[in-house]
Amino acid sequence: MKVNVKFGTAEKETSEITLLGIFEGAEKLTSIVASFDTALGGIISDILKRRDFKGKQNETLVFPTYGKIPTRRVMLVGLGKRELKARSGDVLLTNPALFLDKIRQASGVSAKRVQDMGLKSLISTLHEFDSYNRDVSVQSCAEAVVTGSILGAYQFTKYKTSEPEEIKKVENLTLIVSKKALLPQVQSGARSAEIISEAVCFVRDLGNMPACDTTPTFLANTAKQIAKESKLRCEILSKPQMKSLGMGGLLGTSQGSTQPPKFIIIEYNARDGRGGKANPIVLVGKGITFDSGGISIKPAKDMEKMKYDMAGAAAVLGTIKAIAVLKIPLDVVGLIPCTENLPSGGALKPGDVLRSITGKTIEIISTDAEGRVILADALGYAKRYKPQCVIDMATLTGACVVALGTVATGMFGNNEELKERVKKAGEASFERVWELPLWEEYDEQIKSDIADIKNVGGSWGGAITGACFLKKFVEDFPWVHLDIAGTAMAEKDSPYTPKGGTGVGVRLMVQLLRDWTPLPTRK
Ligand code: BES
Ligand code: MN
Ligand code: ZN
Repeated sequence: MKVNVKFGTAEKETSEITLLGIFEGAEKLTSIVASFDTALGGIISDILKRRDFKGKQNETLVFPTYGKIPTRRVMLVGLGKRELKARSGDVLLTNPALFLDKIRQASGVSAKRVQDMGLKSLISTLHEFDSYNRDVSVQSCAEAVVTGSILGAYQFTKYKTSEPEEIKKVENLTLIVSKKALLPQVQSGARSAEIISEAVCFVRDLGNMPACDTTPTFLANTAKQIAKESKLRCEILSKPQMKSLGMGGLLGTSQGSTQPPKFIIIEYNARDGRGGKANPIVLVGKGITFDSGGISIKPAKDMEKMKYDMAGAAAVLGTIKAIAVLKIPLDVVGLIPCTENLPSGGALKPGDVLRSITGKTIEIISTDAEGRVILADALGYAKRYKPQCVIDMATLTGACVVALGTVATGMFGNNEELKERVKKAGEASFERVWELPLWEEYDEQIKSDIADIKNVGGSWGGAITGACFLKKFVEDFPWVHLDIAGTAMAEKDSPYTPKGGTGVGVRLMVQLLRDWTPLPTRK
């Protein structure tokens, strides 16, 4: 979807369809809607009066304009109740992040509807309101409109054999800006939304693709491609290199597969004259391109969903892709261990013991708890960067889905400031996280009789014992683990997230990194 921003008067623009935002139960139309209403001889106020359209969140109503104005159709888009609270004379939003998400949702639903109608282009005015205040800028509204539209219209058609022209696709989205002074802000919001949303769609594609194509080698080549586009350093460790580094976790997990494992290293350095590399932020992603469970094989039902077990890896790649284009002034390294987890005559067995890169030995109780085993090597490898902090993203445990469902990502960590920042970024991006504890008592569950640690705890608190396992491979750096098992894949459509891969993690990480300041050093 191509995004344009144009200064003009919306009701004088020619288009296939123009979107107008309506608040539920509002006494007054916003000035843009009022000008359309006047130009259309009062149709809109009439529709509202008759209650044919109420403005409920994500409600839509399309009607033709019969030549009264240059646009062929108008779509009224419900924005729900306008949550405004008067505070000391100012009009302030009670929850700006929620308000922005409502715009994102309404934009997603309406862009999808325009697409289903078979139209190729649309004009949106959903970013413009009469009163701005210090809580929500026109720039963030524009960003929400573009994000919602691109993500809501996302579809995965790579494996459909229908002719490209048979696939309905909105090609152009235009944001009309009524005041010249607002133009730069709208342009900037639209541009960053475009970059970030394209990265999210890229991550969705990687997840939705079948595991026969998204192999470790494919992910490695994809990383090289991203590096080439943005001139980043990228190194792919192959099996012999893993051996000499002592990456026993990744090697052991890959034993059952004929696909060679890959360890992706991708480095983005801020082009700010500092030369980069000092204390980077390290992002780690779980790259299991298919998780059958291995010898501890999973039940057949839903096993196909385990192609999404590389969602953490994809989110790291997507984040790096986005921040490189956004030119965020930071040094960020992506570390991605990739392998399939399959059974075979040579596969890893329950009871086997592996030696990780840190020297710690791991007793394998279940070959299905493989994510933590490959992440152990990546976390151990991260140490050599003297990282400012490390954040890992992994579809780690079914238990996390039991605990938090599909709305929140599970968060664990060893540093209050970092956790707080991730939580705030979650609220702002609406990719929300919820903290679970990492108390020492849980460590009991993963003590091994014969090795330093075992890879599975007891029946309860599985998301936590998974995180406790990872903690054992975290040296003295601030660290956050994000369990995205419940949030990486959607089983049903929602306003700007169609079912399938969600691309979760990219918007969260970009939000976190775009206003990053150095973490206070712990003493
Ligand atoms: N990839 C799975 C976790 C998962 C489950 C992700 C459902 C998305 C949806 C992970 O490798 C796994 O199999 N975990 C086991 C751990 C258990 C053996 C301790 C699980 O959650 O059952
Ligand atoms: Mn597994
Ligand atoms: Zn897994």
